[in-house]
Amino acid sequence: GETIRIGLLGAGNVGAQVAKTLVEERELISARVGTPVKLVGVAVRDPEAPRDWRIPGELLTTDAEALVDQSDLVIELIGGNEPAGALIEQALRRGSAVVTGNKALLASRGTELNAIAADTGALLRYEASVGGAIPILRPIEESLSGDRITKVMGIVNGTTNYILDQMDTTGAAFDDALDEAQKLGYAESDPTADVAGLDAAAKAAILGTLAFHAPFSFDDVYCEGITEVTQDDIEAAAASGYVIKLLAIAEKHTQGQEPGVVLRVHPTLLPRTHPLASVRGAFNAVFVVAENAGELMFYGQGAGGRPTSSAIMGDVVAVARRLRAPVPESPTISSEVHLPPLPIEK
Ligand code: HSE
Repeated sequence: GETIRIGLLGAGNVGAQVAKTLVEERELISARVGTPVKLVGVAVRDPEAPRDWRIPGELLTTDAEALVDQSDLVIELIGGNEPAGALIEQALRRGSAVVTGNKALLASRGTELNAIAADTGALLRYEASVGGAIPILRPIEESLSGDRITKVMGIVNGTTNYILDQMDTTGAAFDDALDEAQKLGYAESDPTADVAGLDAAAKAAILGTLAFHAPFSFDDVYCEGITEVTQDDIEAAAASGYVIKLLAIAEKHTQGQEPGVVLRVHPTLLPRTHPLASVRGAFNAVFVVAENAGELMFYGQGAGGRPTSSAIMGDVVAVARRLRAPVPESPTISSEVHLPPLPIEK
């Protein structure tokens, strides 16, 4: 068949690993798709910047817009709102498939971007945006689409889980643990997004939207980070058999007569026997409860270049297969119920 042209935007921790896989594993990926794929360019701000993997010079460009215009499939790994948002929009409007890990953008403009994609028939996938390597969005969207989810509760930020875990197990100071998480490539470029809970809140909005088939955004999520958690809090929790975890929760709830969804991120005391309590380091886990399925737990590496690149590549193969043999897209947000976001009861 015809070669699928792939353009990569951004070559940070995740992007450099994705470039490496697309170059070194091109035959494998092409075989998985069933048609040849080719990385045609990597758009970066600074071609000279040091990277985890040396991207061949002929692939590097600073003209992201031109690259989007020559790609059948665009992988967006710049992160943040702009220019990522405009470039994704450009790709979707010309009907190109888009794979992204951009949780901040999806949590603020996901509904709009999905609508543009539906309009032009473009494919938009973002498995890597929540839980790094963990397959969590597709199980919620597909495997559980014949059930009713009642609750999603997860450790979805590797940086804060790493910090809390280091403080708990080694007594490390908050700032030293954060430095370490940054060195290991887990933290956002501005780690405030991690420690203030904003990154987890974006993921809560994405999980809630898919789990409850209703459009939630970042602003619907009550958010409290871990900056106020002290070593004393952690020790007091431990002494009574608890551990402090930053949880992102999206839960069906009824206030008065009105059914709705509560979305929240905050440090939570968990009994050490709870399955989420044993999630260590930068690992993530998402606990899902559905009416018929009961309890499910998804566990894996939630941050870092290699783990996250696995989810990106899975989406790349999935959308490339559909570019090869198109099937119509089905609705993420249906009109069967309208569940509004609810305020937090304090
Ligand atoms: N900064 C994020 C985290 C990266 O620590 O989990 C993965 O989204």
